[in-house]
Amino acid sequence: MSLVDELSALAEETLSSISGASTSVELEAIRVAVLGKSGSLTGYLRSMGQVPKEERAEVGKTVNATRVKVESALEEAKARISAAELASSIDAAAVDVTLPGRAQQIGTRHLINGMVDEIAQVFLGLGYSVIEGPEVETDYYNFEALNAPPDHPSRSMQDTFYVLDRSGDASAVKGESDVLLRTQTSGAQVHAMEDRELPIYVIAPGKVYRRDVADPSHLPQFHQVEGLVVDKGITFGDLKGTLDFVCKQLFGPDRRTRFRAHYFPFTEPSAEVDVSCGICHGEGCRMCKGTGWLEILGCGMVDPNVLSMSGIDPEVYSGFAFGMGVERIACLKYDVPDLRMLLEGDMRFLRQF
Ligand code: DAH
Repeated sequence: MSLVDELSALAEETLSSISGASTSVELEAIRVAVLGKSGSLTGYLRSMGQVPKEERAEVGKTVNATRVKVESALEEAKARISAAELASSIDAAAVDVTLPGRAQQIGTRHLINGMVDEIAQVFLGLGYSVIEGPEVETDYYNFEALNAPPDHPSRSMQDTFYVLDRSGDASAVKGESDVLLRTQTSGAQVHAMEDRELPIYVIAPGKVYRRDVADPSHLPQFHQVEGLVVDKGITFGDLKGTLDFVCKQLFGPDRRTRFRAHYFPFTEPSAEVDVSCGICHGEGCRMCKGTGWLEILGCGMVDPNVLSMSGIDPEVYSGFAFGMGVERIACLKYDVPDLRMLLEGDMRFLRQF
């Protein structure tokens, strides 16, 4: 085949691949393969020296004509392709202004806050006031003024986070200088007795902290609602009647309560209160571990010692106190199987309440 024929075959092949190209990347690859430094047509230009003299003029003319043809075909194709690319990028970026807007994700009140409010409403209806004690507390309010002096065995029931433990400091007055995260809301009882006029009818909801590893039935931080009544002539009957009423308000009128003797350092006598199981109504099931009852709170008559330590005369006044775990009550009420679900922040779970 003569050089001129070779060139016209190259021209034909190149023009057809240019017309078949549909992206600027493809087009650039064709340009480089033909007109680039080591492109096929450039190769012919470079080797003009070896072409016999008599053919040189014609071959030269053909090479040039081929180059002009290829260049103008590239030019045209570039215009065609970039217009198409622009059009498709405009399409891709198009905004449909008729679409509805995206709704803002609004949070919900947490089940536990809702439960605290619900409990508070019941007590507000009975004429109680709602108070709040500090979460960072001293050993005195958390333990000592509640009849649990240092070394009292009841302290080991509640593993404590100490903020400041100066028990090794000889100049510190032991017991008074220890700062801790409260393990129970019961310290609010002491604040109420110190700060408020008698008679006292208060509840104190809030967070408490214990050195526990989170598992289905324990959290290192949870909520309690404490209650305290101090008045003249308060009896265990008042305690039972009040808590039975509150349980029926919270769980439903068909639920029964039972009081089981227990020990707490700051009440005497003390009891734990169970509510009848709402699933089996007392028959015994998995929820109540076959007993028919669910434990929901601790309570008792305020120990005379506790009254005197806060400057109240136990010969004139008596009272009762109670403390309930809010997470526990919420989980029993709404059948939540694992306390940790309350901390996960999963909106699909939290929105249900
Ligand atoms: N503070 C107790 C606890 O965390 C609960 C409690 C029991 C509170 C008896 C009381 C009470 O006020 O009288 O385990």
